[in-house]
Amino acid sequence: MSVQEIQGAPLYPPAITPPDAPQKPIDFLRTFVRNPLLTLPKAAYQQRFLVHSPTPRIKMAWICDPPTIEDILVDKQGRFKKNAIEGRVLGPVLGEGVLIAEGNSWRWQRRAIAPLMRAGDIGTYVPAMSQAALEQVERWRSAESGIVQRVDKGMVDLTFAIIARTMLSGGEPAEAEMIKYEGDQFVSRTSWDLVYTILNLPRWLPHPNMWRSRLAAKRVRNAVFAIVRRRRAQSELTDDLLGRLLRASDPETGQTMTDVQIVDNLVTLLAAGHETTAKALTWTLYLLARAPDWQERARVEVLSVAGRDPIEAHHVERFEILDRVFKESMRLYPPVIVVARTPTEPVTLFGETFEPGDQLQIPIWCLHRNEALWDDPERFDPDRFLPEQERDRPRAQYMPFGAGARICIGMSFAMTEAKVILATLLQHASFEWDGAYVPEPLSRVTLRPRDGMPLKVHML
Ligand code: HEM
Repeated sequence: MSVQEIQGAPLYPPAITPPDAPQKPIDFLRTFVRNPLLTLPKAAYQQRFLVHSPTPRIKMAWICDPPTIEDILVDKQGRFKKNAIEGRVLGPVLGEGVLIAEGNSWRWQRRAIAPLMRAGDIGTYVPAMSQAALEQVERWRSAESGIVQRVDKGMVDLTFAIIARTMLSGGEPAEAEMIKYEGDQFVSRTSWDLVYTILNLPRWLPHPNMWRSRLAAKRVRNAVFAIVRRRRAQSELTDDLLGRLLRASDPETGQTMTDVQIVDNLVTLLAAGHETTAKALTWTLYLLARAPDWQERARVEVLSVAGRDPIEAHHVERFEILDRVFKESMRLYPPVIVVARTPTEPVTLFGETFEPGDQLQIPIWCLHRNEALWDDPERFDPDRFLPEQERDRPRAQYMPFGAGARICIGMSFAMTEAKVILATLLQHASFEWDGAYVPEPLSRVTLRPRDGMPLKVHML
């Protein structure tokens, strides 16, 4: 099948139907707990701006207008801050780390961590990325070729192994397993907290997931505390991310982190650093399985750049097709589906006034599929990311990593990691869709396929 035919094909509407109009409180609550994506009405996929009040006391806007997004996140970012949602929902496990902190506390933590994520440093993590990807290939090779594998699970194991090795070299594997397991228990149970926060319900009000999610948060933090304490007790500091975090200081003031701040940031980087990339890879494998010609084009490129050798840092920038495929995959399935802010002073947008506390939501999912912005938005077409196409696009029309001062600190790490992994997998395996299964995208902090991602994996 030619690329032309694939591009013309009506590809991949996701297995969800948006409501015709914004929902009333009870429906909104019920739907939100089931899957927050399903509360986004049709108009949010068609219009640039939509106001909604799920209850009389709550005002929220869904914003898909690139210039307004740019104002909020970049040009006038000082007039907006993160709303309380992330802090309340993720705070029990992430504490006051860089993802959640505001003001000076955020600024200095960001300055201290940013140097750990520089392009030069990321190159040093590539061997660990490539090695972990090869181990995943071997796990698949030890099973029968061509059988159905849960690639979503494989991707979580793989990205967690990478972040654990790059951050916690020499840690106990059982400890890392427990952190991964309990982290997932926490993340899977966030929807009640999310809806309680959006509806301004008090923290003490119990909900069905409360006790298990608190327990999971406690277990994760206790395990990470133990690792930090052990590492502090060592005279030599290892040169992994934790070692660098222990030495990290604010370049302006020289301030270093307390143990609690180290734990907050270590948990943040462990969590943010594997879930998101695992989900992005899972959706990319799904799309490649549904578009075999793109899968083959990407494989031919990888083999011409690196043959069957382990992927090295210098290969990565030559993977142009893979880069476009991965970007298009994150357009259709952004791992983080919404970025939210609240104004710090009254602000007028599209003639509507918003007060501090009102919720300004940038639903990345709808922005990336908005009919007012994209031609044929449901079509999988990596060529949307050819350099000339990217150049002509408003900056805030495509933002899987957010934008502005709080743009994802791990963006370069994730882009490198994803390409190293995809290249390694394509060198050794091909992925086949069964022709029937259309996964439901489910938002649980990150965007996962509700019933997993079974694909046939053929070893090459
Ligand atoms: C495909 C993978 C990833 C995606 C799609 C992604 C997405 C995002 C987005 C959208 C934000 C901005 C949130 C906001 O403005 O409210 C963010 C922030 C953040 N991400 Fe990522 N992320 C990814 C991978 C990573 C990795 C690998 C790490 C760490 C190793 C990481 C660490 C962080 C941190 C610490 C923040 C908070 C930054 C701040 O507030 O200053 N992320 N990410």
